[in-house]
Amino acid sequence: MRIVRTVTELRAALEPHRSGGIGFVPTMGALHEGHLSLLRAAAVENPTVVLSIFVNPTQFGEAADLDAYPRTEEADVELAASAGAHVVFAPSAAEMYPAGFATTISVGGAVTATLEGAVRGRSHFDGVATVVATLLLAVQPDRAYFGAKDAQQVVVVRRMVTDLRIPVAIVTCPTSREADGLARSSRNARLSAEERQLAAIVPRSLRAAQDAFASGIRDAHRLTALVREGLAEAGLDDEYVEIVDADTLDPLTDVTRPALLALAVRVGTVRLIDNVVLDPAVDDRTAVERSGA
Ligand code: PAF
Repeated sequence: MRIVRTVTELRAALEPHRSGGIGFVPTMGALHEGHLSLLRAAAVENPTVVLSIFVNPTQFGEAADLDAYPRTEEADVELAASAGAHVVFAPSAAEMYPAGFATTISVGGAVTATLEGAVRGRSHFDGVATVVATLLLAVQPDRAYFGAKDAQQVVVVRRMVTDLRIPVAIVTCPTSREADGLARSSRNARLSAEERQLAAIVPRSLRAAQDAFASGIRDAHRLTALVREGLAEAGLDDEYVEIVDADTLDPLTDVTRPALLALAVRVGTVRLIDNVVLDPAVDDRTAVERSGA
């Protein structure tokens, strides 16, 4: 497996492998089982797999959050190799944003105005869209793999790829979960033992809403209230709990088409996000447990 630091080196490393098919997993490092599941999915579908590790400063609101983001490159490289990566692209900030860099890709509309966009500001998704476009143009993969935990990010990336006609298939992989259902995230490592226990209430509350949905409740307000109650009983204040159309992210009052039930909550100082799909055509109640396996 090769580690490359510049776009020129990356392109040279990938040139001989272009015709076979290239799968790409963009990450900010601190790899966990969720990232490895993306790499494994990429390895099944592509003879060559590229992982990027870049803690992208432009998508962080608070400098403290950026500084606190774990950087574990050596361990990441070993894990990436074990999960099927052939090339790791680990550029510096100066390589990604050279002097004079002045381009921002800004995806407009509901897809960036709501949920994370409403709390963190649209600039978060400007940062994500700009870096993902830059990475896609550097790697030029056939397929790029993203986790469903960051559902809004996937919708934004899909919108951008469609609008800019970037020739890549975006593949969404299921949220990877711990045995108690907690969605895997690099931020989980910052939870104390007590907070980690509390955090299990997040998937449990989503599961309560899924059960209510499966029993026939379609009223979005009732379903989100159930989640909020679950969180509140554990003393957790949500930043948002919302039900939106799964494709457009427009708010829904009744779940009569595929929807995303998404939330953000702070456990101590750690901000967690999670979501489940509510689809009137599919009973997805066991998804939280299934993906924890
Ligand atoms: O999901 C992430 O880790 C990041 O948002 C991404 C896609 C690597 C862009 O920095």
